[in-house]
Amino acid sequence: MQKYNVAILRTVFDEDYRWWEQVCRLRQNKLNYQVIDLGSSDWFERIVAGRFDGLLATPPGLTSALKTMYDERLAIAHLLLDIPIYPTFEEVQIYENKKYLAYWLKARKIPHPATHVFYQENEALHFLERTKYPVVGKMSVGASGKGVVILRNKPDARRYVSNLFAGKGGGRVTGPNLRKKGLVLRAMKKLMKPKSIIDRLKHYQVERSENQKEFAIFQEFIPHDYEWRCVRIGDSYFAHKKVVKGEKASGALIKSYENPPLEMLDFVRELTDEAGTVSQSVDLFIDAEGNFLVNEMQCIFGQSDPYQMLVDGQPGRYRYIHGQWVFEPGDFNQYHSFLLRIDHFIQILNHQNQESLAI
Ligand SMILES: Nc1ncnc2c1ncn2[C@@H]1O[C@H](COP(=O)(O)OP(=O)(O)O)[C@@H](O)[C@H]1O
Ligand SMILES: [Mg+2]
Repeated sequence: MQKYNVAILRTVFDEDYRWWEQVCRLRQNKLNYQVIDLGSSDWFERIVAGRFDGLLATPPGLTSALKTMYDERLAIAHLLLDIPIYPTFEEVQIYENKKYLAYWLKARKIPHPATHVFYQENEALHFLERTKYPVVGKMSVGASGKGVVILRNKPDARRYVSNLFAGKGGGRVTGPNLRKKGLVLRAMKKLMKPKSIIDRLKHYQVERSENQKEFAIFQEFIPHDYEWRCVRIGDSYFAHKKVVKGEKASGALIKSYENPPLEMLDFVRELTDEAGTVSQSVDLFIDAEGNFLVNEMQCIFGQSDPYQMLVDGQPGRYRYIHGQWVFEPGDFNQYHSFLLRIDHFIQILNHQNQESLAI
């Protein structure tokens, strides 16, 4: 049995790579791994020197500059050096890039809330004359509802556009402002220097540095009481509800583990089959007519409970076997679902190997 050589591509400010490390260690009979900081200047040389069979991605979602760095370097590693990546390159591209996701959903004919991206202020203002209110303004990057604003009327929306195009940013809510609220934290930092607090502060500082300018994203407002978070990793499917607390369903969310409707799993199966994704969460709204509308897709996503789904109170997964949805009780989301991911990647590499041997 061949042992694969894989690289975990990390960035600073993102600890998700540790999950890859943990599951690689568990599968060390099948692979050797190295952690590479894709943000370091010698990334290219290190990837070439490693002669890797595969790359494990944890794309950053903190700022668009970091995300662009990751996408560019991954494009070279994958498209030019021809190294398989998990999740796929396309999945990384749509991750934490709401404008690119909007183009992608449209091109793939996947139902989603109508989304408009403007790079010209006059076009954006013109749109605001004819759109319905409320309308949703979104930052391209930024998780947990921090970059999403619900604009109730035209004057608010016009102000939002003017601010964006004047480079003043767009209604972003984020962690402690170092200047205003920072006194206590800065004092703590000086006195104790606890690494976790310093890391957190740096994280906020970098997050605040994200200043979206020169474009605006508007989205049709879809009234909803909850979003469904559907997950497909390999052939395993999961879903749970994120119930709105206040105005937004992410950020301040309450999970609710109800039995998912099977027609929703069909919807997710078809779209992920067609797009060829390997590890996806698909967040969707159900509109007044009962249509599924994709709001967000993420290849790496958080997990606050040991499971992603309960069916009749039991943790487990769904699989689609011979045209039927089959529920299998069990513990399939260990290590924040990274164990399922690594086993799927090993399976993909085995399959590719067998195919190349057969030629
Ligand atoms: N088109 C929309 N209509 C109504 N509410 C929305 C819309 N888009 C997002 N929201 C609300 O805002 C929350 C955050 O938006 P989302 O696009 O998921 O960004 P993120 O999770 O990256 O912050 C959603 O969970 C939802 O409750
Ligand atoms: Mg969301």
